[in-house]
Amino acid sequence: MAIQLGDEAPDFTAETTEGTINFHQYLGDGWGILFSHPADFTPVCTTELGRVAGLKPEFEKRNTKVIAISVDPLEKHAAWAQDIEDVTGNKLNYPLIADPDRTVANLYGMIHPNANDTLTVRSVFVVGPDKKVKLTLTYPAATGRDFNEILRVIDSLQLTAKHKVATPADWRQGEDVIITTAVSNEEAAERFPGYETVKPYLRKTQQPA
Ligand code: BEZ
Repeated sequence: MAIQLGDEAPDFTAETTEGTINFHQYLGDGWGILFSHPADFTPVCTTELGRVAGLKPEFEKRNTKVIAISVDPLEKHAAWAQDIEDVTGNKLNYPLIADPDRTVANLYGMIHPNANDTLTVRSVFVVGPDKKVKLTLTYPAATGRDFNEILRVIDSLQLTAKHKVATPADWRQGEDVIITTAVSNEEAAERFPGYETVKPYLRKTQQPA
């Protein structure tokens, strides 16, 4: 069965470009993102891995560890890393899992046989400090991901984990948020003084700190 939101992120130990890594230990007490690539030396993947390397400080600001996976072997990853740097100007600065026997890919359901029966799709799993899956995304091989969107989603996940709020369509960090329907008007007045009632079920407030 596919991994669903709220499930524990399956743990594994794998060989990576930064040595043998146990996934849960690598994540520690923070957030994490595991994302898959169909294969080494492919164009979209090259741009994606370089882009994430460039955004690493943004993930770090969000206390989020990054780890990628491609089903090719470690020797191939090492050679590809140079290409990634040549093409994007960013050195691979986070671990890339080698998964030639597809152990991790199968554990996470990253191979969708009706798309391709040997390569992974472009999966994203965001994992919280409790090791539970907070978000999943699946893109086809031909469509590169927007990693600014993934940072935006992490901002929302972290905010809504901390406060009784939800984020509206197209929300960005710093914009108004929605008070969840589980909060009574009395509690809302206490927690979010000056909140605005747009509809009885839609109450807005400034983003809490
Ligand atoms: C790519 O990264 O460009 C790619 C990989 C596998 C299939 C199609 C495209």
